[in-house]
Amino acid sequence: MRSSRPARLAVVVLALSASAPAWLAREARAQQANFDAPIDRTAPPALTGVAASAAEGPMEGVLVTARATGSTIATSVVTDGSGRFAFPRERLPSGDYALSVRATGYRVAAAATARVAAGTTAAASLELAAVADISSQLTNTEWIMSVPGTDSQKRALATCASCHSLERVVKSTHTAGEWVGALRRMVDYAAESGSDDIPRRPKPRDIPDAKFQNLAAYLATINRSRGDWAWPLKTLPRPRGAATRVVVTEYFLPRAVIGPHDVSRDDDGFVWYSNSAEQTLGRVDPRDGAVKEFSYPAPKPDAPLGSLDLEPDASGGLWLSMMYQGGLARFDKKTETFKLFPVPPELATDDTQQSMVMPAFSNVDGKVWTNEVSRQSIMRVDAATGKYELIDPFANAPPGPAHTPYGLAADAGNNLWFMDFGGESIGRVDAKTLRATFYPTPTRNSHPRRVMYDGSKLWFAEFAADRLGSFDIAREKFEEWRVPTPWSFPYDAFKDSAGFLWSGNMSNDRILRLDTATGASVEYLLPRPSNIRRVFVDNSTRPPALWAGNNHGAEIVRMEALE
Ligand code: HEC
Repeated sequence: MRSSRPARLAVVVLALSASAPAWLAREARAQQANFDAPIDRTAPPALTGVAASAAEGPMEGVLVTARATGSTIATSVVTDGSGRFAFPRERLPSGDYALSVRATGYRVAAAATARVAAGTTAAASLELAAVADISSQLTNTEWIMSVPGTDSQKRALATCASCHSLERVVKSTHTAGEWVGALRRMVDYAAESGSDDIPRRPKPRDIPDAKFQNLAAYLATINRSRGDWAWPLKTLPRPRGAATRVVVTEYFLPRAVIGPHDVSRDDDGFVWYSNSAEQTLGRVDPRDGAVKEFSYPAPKPDAPLGSLDLEPDASGGLWLSMMYQGGLARFDKKTETFKLFPVPPELATDDTQQSMVMPAFSNVDGKVWTNEVSRQSIMRVDAATGKYELIDPFANAPPGPAHTPYGLAADAGNNLWFMDFGGESIGRVDAKTLRATFYPTPTRNSHPRRVMYDGSKLWFAEFAADRLGSFDIAREKFEEWRVPTPWSFPYDAFKDSAGFLWSGNMSNDRILRLDTATGASVEYLLPRPSNIRRVFVDNSTRPPALWAGNNHGAEIVRMEALE
């Protein structure tokens, strides 16, 4: 009887593809695919091949992306030292795939496809052709490396990248005089989102022309206002060695306008994201890529929409900071309903803005922390009554640059720890006395940005110093690590349970994994231009997997290091 089974199975499969309606075939495929299944590194791959070019022969560090027709999921792997790529079976279910590459200076010579079937390893070879003009392939970091200018002039370009690529800046033709008007337009757009339809801030900023003039004069020296650039384009090296041993899964979201900012995976395996452009909270099922969105009202319909920070509380509720909509929202996963916590009129300004929320230890005293960007202050709301307190933590701050409370963490006593992004300190607000204490980072002008707390240490990104840091709360002791690529501008840091510190940024399309014991680091290249904000590491998988939103690319990305 045993021997007849494969034959019968084959007949069934044939019958399915010959006469079954398309939806049934699709369903059969969907059932067999689970993009969240653990990768068996010893099993034969689903698809393998070599990427080579006339100039280099077999090439290491080429990202190869496979996407089935009509699928909302794409998988990428990287070629090894002999130019070979191999897609694990768990990430490439049977089907017809289009293959594309990322390798600066190259493109695929001719359209490449592959047919993947169960039980066999499909083969595809990729021929890469050199491109004449690489200027549409550079990352923001590579533009900053390439343009002339002093370090402080170049540093100013990081701000532009929070809304769009620097390619647009260097390819413009504005003279210094024209730049003043263009920059005035830029500063009045709401923070967030990668579209050209970014709404304006509720209140235009009152900035005199003179304030723009230095930057305007500099920008006119790095764009095409005086003809083509007289400087060479510099590029970062392709991935090598450990950086090639990774699998990246991209989950594309249903609308290009969605700006996934923060990502968090829950105990049921769902991946949640805040949307910086619309009043929705999103959920991705990593098994099949299904997206479900939950809408909440806009308390201020005329103000820019969207949220930024997304943080779970101790009972699994998800909190959003509502940015220009003023206040916080809590989503209850059981009832699938939101409760809104608007900032009351007596505490609000014309441009009230909550960019952060910290409910992790609200079970201790019923209080949730947030910030008030328009007043550069901290706020705290009582989750039962919705009553807000406004706290100025800078009354006894050390003198220094402008203060901006940004990334928030809370300790087990629900004391607040905040990053002074405008400056160079970590601040602590005592939950009982509301008094603030400051701890300056060892590196000056570090502009600490986002932070996570692992129960004993804070882990954070020093945006302007190209460093990652940790702060031991009990011992009041800092440690810092330099990121390997200058001009990375790290945005966030996340320590995993395997001992690695992860970081992402808006500049170099790479995710960094740093071994805090040895200082050794690996930078994994992403398949496309990526504006990465919050990074989240899922400790339930071995090794832990990184999740992030591509804020300007309407996609959620998972990165699985294979070693
Ligand atoms: C808060 C979001 C935001 C920031 C920050 C930002 N931009 Fe823009 N930028 C936009 C938007 C939206 C557009 C498209 C609409 C427009 O041109 O006004 C744009 C368009 C542009 C353009 C193309 C249009 C033109 O006038 O040539 C250039 C060049 C540009 N930005 C330069 C910059 C520079 C330089 C910086 C940093 C100093 C910067 N931007 C920072 C939002 C931003």
